[in-house]
Amino acid sequence: MSSIELMSPGMLKKMREACALAADTLVMISGHIRPGVTTDHINTLVHDYTLAHNALPSPLGYRGFPKSVCTSLNEVVCHGIPGPRVLVDGDIINVDITSTYPVKRGFHGDNSATFYVGEPSPEARKIVEVSRRCLEIGVEQVRPGGRIGDIGAAIQEYAEAQGCSVVRDYVGHGIGRSFHMPPNVPHFGQRNTLQRMTPGMVFTIEPMINIGGYECEVLADQWTVLTRDRSLTAQFEHTVAVTREGCEVLTQRQGLLNHSEDVPWADLGPLTCAHAYARLRAA
Ligand code: MF3
Ligand code: CO
Ligand code: CO
Repeated sequence: MSSIELMSPGMLKKMREACALAADTLVMISGHIRPGVTTDHINTLVHDYTLAHNALPSPLGYRGFPKSVCTSLNEVVCHGIPGPRVLVDGDIINVDITSTYPVKRGFHGDNSATFYVGEPSPEARKIVEVSRRCLEIGVEQVRPGGRIGDIGAAIQEYAEAQGCSVVRDYVGHGIGRSFHMPPNVPHFGQRNTLQRMTPGMVFTIEPMINIGGYECEVLADQWTVLTRDRSLTAQFEHTVAVTREGCEVLTQRQGLLNHSEDVPWADLGPLTCAHAYARLRAA
């Protein structure tokens, strides 16, 4: 196992800058999610915004990835490639944005959210709200002295109690001068396993949660990951740092994301699907 780099205060300052741009870009994009928009347009908006801020989109050219952002619709788990596909009413779409300031020694900030296009179905609401909560639960586990396995254990317990499944094939990751580095951060597993969390560790938490089975398959394009049963899937991602006090969410946003965090019942704190369905039935 290769070792985990711990960040000095100076490195963390640069990480904060990259993460703040990635978060701002996600907020910017949230205002453009609507029926009729193509995923290529989302790519252009992310690309241009990033360059206008003297930064680079980390996905572009990464292991041959052809675009500047990942756009993953409905049954696409992750790594969707932007193209001519037009967003339609009822879609859900994850937009995954990673930014780096090359002149500031190339620290990467990585975050994503899933958005509702128009009016979501109850199933779409369920999977998006469960995956949103899974990220919150994962972040709540981050503290010095805890173990990386605590994160996945807590996420898996909640997701499966909600009748959903947790993707195994893709995991969170250490991040810093490299886009992906140790440690792996699974979103499933057992407490008191894997590495001990130490102040200065920086990694992503990015649970991919399926409404059906957890199995995935990759399309012939070598990138697009689908649920094997073609069930709906959703994902949220933050980059976090372990601090002496607990956790700093480096990609924390200032305001609410449009078309995701602004749905009427999505800001109720520890919302369960049971609560969501009760509210829907009562409405
Ligand atoms: N941003 C993704 C992650 O969360 C990785 C995308 S790799 C790319 O780790 F090449 F598809 F961009
Ligand atoms: Co990402
Ligand atoms: Co990531």
